[in-house]
Amino acid sequence: MLKTGVKSVPISKAKASESKEVVIKGWIYRKRSSGGKIFAVVRDRTGIIQCIIDKSAMSESAWNAIDSAYLESSIIIKGTVKKDERAPDGVEMEAKDVLVVHSGEQFPITEYQSPEFLLDVRHLWLRSQRMIMAMKARSYIFRYARDFLDKQGFFEITPPLVTVAGGETGADLFEVKYFDQKAYLTESSQLYSEAMIYSLEKVYSFAPSYRAEKSRTVKHLAEYWHLEPEMAYFNNAMNMKFQEKLVSGIANKLAKEHPDILKFFSVEPDSLIKIRPPFKRLSYDQAIALLQEKGSDKKWGDDFGVEEEKLLTENEDKPIFVYNWPKEIKAFYMPVNPKDERTVLCADMLAPHGHGEIIGSSEREWRYEELVKRMKELNMNLDNYSWYIDLRKYGSVPHAGFGLGIERVIKWMLNLDHIRDAIPFPRVINRLTP
Ligand code: 4AD
Ligand code: MG
Repeated sequence: MLKTGVKSVPISKAKASESKEVVIKGWIYRKRSSGGKIFAVVRDRTGIIQCIIDKSAMSESAWNAIDSAYLESSIIIKGTVKKDERAPDGVEMEAKDVLVVHSGEQFPITEYQSPEFLLDVRHLWLRSQRMIMAMKARSYIFRYARDFLDKQGFFEITPPLVTVAGGETGADLFEVKYFDQKAYLTESSQLYSEAMIYSLEKVYSFAPSYRAEKSRTVKHLAEYWHLEPEMAYFNNAMNMKFQEKLVSGIANKLAKEHPDILKFFSVEPDSLIKIRPPFKRLSYDQAIALLQEKGSDKKWGDDFGVEEEKLLTENEDKPIFVYNWPKEIKAFYMPVNPKDERTVLCADMLAPHGHGEIIGSSEREWRYEELVKRMKELNMNLDNYSWYIDLRKYGSVPHAGFGLGIERVIKWMLNLDHIRDAIPFPRVINRLTP
């Protein structure tokens, strides 16, 4: 009799083991019966295989167990893999023994379900082929990003996620009770990464960031994973070069190593192979001119929204940079552009085909007086940032860095309609469970 501890092979390997007896462990993906036989499609993380279970070859208890099992019941099957042209993949498994590990209850997800219901049962919907593919892509993209930075000599650092003040606009912070004090969930780890360049020089954090975004859009999460590299002695030009190498590297590797995942989402792998440096660079001034040419009523000084991002990237196959934005719409730490004091030294990377901003980046004001002056202009509470300002007193150096929203990158690369499918348990304004 089969036991749960029995040695098994992944389904992908079983499929390549023609005429051999193997054991697989998985879940029932589809099931039908006809004429004393059960046809069960079994899935594991490597794929699916059709298994034929013949009543005459089973013990009565094994047959009864599989006969009454549900979709998603967990199952172990021992059998022989055979070629069969009628089977979906040209091979199928003839079962010799079956163990239903847990039959459980009727699986609540049937074929046609509303997106809202699928979000309610997200913990179960994660077993769908669509979510399996998306979660694999997510894991690969995380790995490629880390591999790239590790190879470039970066140290991964771990910032605190509970802070006393924000690094960006501060308007979208989640408040938390921290003993007797008011604190916030971090919206960016940048300020802490900056502190660590003075010892490790090239660092990155890869951690959640929190934004109490009230906007219900297809690209905003309240909790997202933020990759934030920070580099000593980098300027804006070096920063952009580095970003395009990172993003191309991730795109190329995903296309080369996992074209099957891309094809599942109807993305042509070649479209990601073609993501190569250099990316187009538009100054903010040029971007405004281009938008106006395309009929937009945006004027100098305005921020961009979904519409503008779409107009700027609709005909692009690669991401583009928009650099040197007006200082009034960017964060306090960005240094003024000496060539045009209305702007700051920064760049946003926009994904092609309207997928929106995937990176926010800039040089950092590294001079004590200039930083304090700007923070006072903005009426910021300097006490909350005393340690950050302090960094500019001892051996300060020019530096730059960026923040990449990993779910935005996944959304773009898999061409997802909504960012929520790029993360297993999405947090958005109207959803905190599961
Ligand atoms: O442009 P942002 O706000 O920049 C910063 O936070 C900088 N401190 C980063 C840095 O320089 N270290 O955010 C950076 C990126 C955006 O480009 C976007 O990709 C992503 O974070 N992002 C979001 N992703 C999902 N949901 C949201 N609500 C997001 N807000 C920003
Ligand atoms: Mg931004």
